[in-house]
Amino acid sequence: MPVENLEEDQAAHELECLARVLSEHDQLYHLLDSPTVRDDVYDSLRARNAALETYFPHLIRPDSSSRRIGAPAIESFKKVWHTVPMLSLNNALTEEDVAAFLSRVRQFLGLSRDVSVPVIAEPKIDGVSVSLRYENGVFVQASTRGNSIEGEDITENLRTLKELPFLLKKTENVPEILEVRGEVYMTKTEFAALNSKHAAMGESCKLFSNPRNAAAGSLRQIDPCITAARPLHFFAYAWGEVHNPHWDTHWEFLELLRGFGFMVNPLVHRCETLEAILEFYASLVARRDALSYEIDGLVYKVDRVEWQRRLGFMSRAPRWAIAHKFPGEQACTVIEAITTSVSRSGRLTPVACLRPITIGGVKISQATLHNEEEIARKDVRVGDTVIIRRAGSVIPQVVGVVAAMRPKDTQPYQGPAVCPICHSLTTRESEGGIRRCTGGLICAAQRIERLKHFVSRNAFNITGLREKNLETLYAEGLIRSPADIFRLEEQDSIKSITAISGWGTRSASKLFEKIRAKRTVSFDRLLYALGIPHVGEVLAKTLAAHYGNLARLRVAMVAAQDRTSDAWHELLNIPMVGRLKGEAITVFFAEQHNSHILDELEKLLNLQL
Ligand code: IVH
Repeated sequence: MPVENLEEDQAAHELECLARVLSEHDQLYHLLDSPTVRDDVYDSLRARNAALETYFPHLIRPDSSSRRIGAPAIESFKKVWHTVPMLSLNNALTEEDVAAFLSRVRQFLGLSRDVSVPVIAEPKIDGVSVSLRYENGVFVQASTRGNSIEGEDITENLRTLKELPFLLKKTENVPEILEVRGEVYMTKTEFAALNSKHAAMGESCKLFSNPRNAAAGSLRQIDPCITAARPLHFFAYAWGEVHNPHWDTHWEFLELLRGFGFMVNPLVHRCETLEAILEFYASLVARRDALSYEIDGLVYKVDRVEWQRRLGFMSRAPRWAIAHKFPGEQACTVIEAITTSVSRSGRLTPVACLRPITIGGVKISQATLHNEEEIARKDVRVGDTVIIRRAGSVIPQVVGVVAAMRPKDTQPYQGPAVCPICHSLTTRESEGGIRRCTGGLICAAQRIERLKHFVSRNAFNITGLREKNLETLYAEGLIRSPADIFRLEEQDSIKSITAISGWGTRSASKLFEKIRAKRTVSFDRLLYALGIPHVGEVLAKTLAAHYGNLARLRVAMVAAQDRTSDAWHELLNIPMVGRLKGEAITVFFAEQHNSHILDELEKLLNLQL
């Protein structure tokens, strides 16, 4: 519900929940490296908290997350003072933000619009930033960012990183003191492998929620042997304290780093114009998933060091750089209802109707919930605050529930007993949790698909009724059930058909001829044509051979409704018929509307054994 529409007690309740959830997350994130929700989700919860606090300032709680910045450093590591603070970056979310960044830079430097401001665009690695100190070319200390001024000494752990030079290669002039900053990361496949290894070792072993947390957790090990066993990598991208720097551009600095023996991201790119920057951004958005490591945007840095020096810093970020974030993929919202969609194959899919939210610039008001088993596993209920993920063009998914935000009096979800389209009973398959409508040929959601199957090549094979023709006759109301196909000629249909544009008397007669030729059909083809869930050609043949004729099969299937009957056991004993298929077949024959269709077809067809 929008903040403005909330009653005071509702707002107070929501603020209480948010304080608890956000504080839990802050602890997990800063101390234990295993957040239960992703950054963008966390951000949307914080945004909701901020909106509530702006509207209801008198309800701000002393334990609100907005009053806390970060978490204290873990006690067991020695503290390291950063002489040059490890600052963060301001964010640009839109192209306009990037353009505004460039104009600010120009304005600050007093440059006119026609002077180009080259920037270096670098992938923003989603890892852990560290600072490495070299004295006379020798690695002496590594530290985490901490609160940007004071971090933790992780020297021994970093010594185990294979990609880190202990001694800088002396191909270049090595500054007496050089702090190299960069990102420690784990690749996506290494992260997955580490988690599967942990999962195999049992529940007590911690699983990481993403590669960044796995990297952070691996660095914060008291025992460096554990870090050594973890697959960690490093990309260098900035400097901290330096004595006598002798590079004029960031690009030159990156070249130097390579010369010293560091890994520098191979995708770094020098851009002269806003257009070039945006083009590079678009190319990386497209390549993002294919990269072996996670990136969450690009960083643009003014190339000339002299300009960087003049631009300097604002409170917590440099004025000479900006992070151009990729569109977020996850956010939180509330499930307002759970409705059901019916597919053309009769499968019922629960759909979450959401309080609308915008993810990555796209407004979202629905998300799939897959099936009832999935809903039960995640325990998703109407009223719940949920995490929604929208990646690329796939249908938005419900990732999980923010349990602490659940309102009172919610009920576990129960699938619909009847189809929302045709009101026939639904059944839930014993395996996989899929619910189906039993309406089949009478259900408007499924009818056209079932009819197409009925006339298809391996079923009745009526070539004159392929795709378009069938669709037209269906739309005109001339064919609504399989029996209508064989009654087409009897009806006053020539008149009706020829009234449809594109049909002449000749083409209508030709169609009738084709249909007439198919009145004689084998029992197994008819069985297959009915489109009984899970009954393919082979099973149709087996059933036909076993029961001999339609009348016997129908009697047996009605008797098999009783799961203790001989008929049920006889059905289960047929090769290929398991419980799932057995249920689907008996349900089909038990439905009155299917019996009606079969009665009609028996009269119109000439069934052969
Ligand atoms: S430059 C003073 N370059 O992003 C500028 N940071 O949101 C220092 N990051 O704390 C940062 N890739 O952990 C820079 N190519 C890159 C980066 C990068 C990832 C991280 C870094 C920083 C955070 C800021």
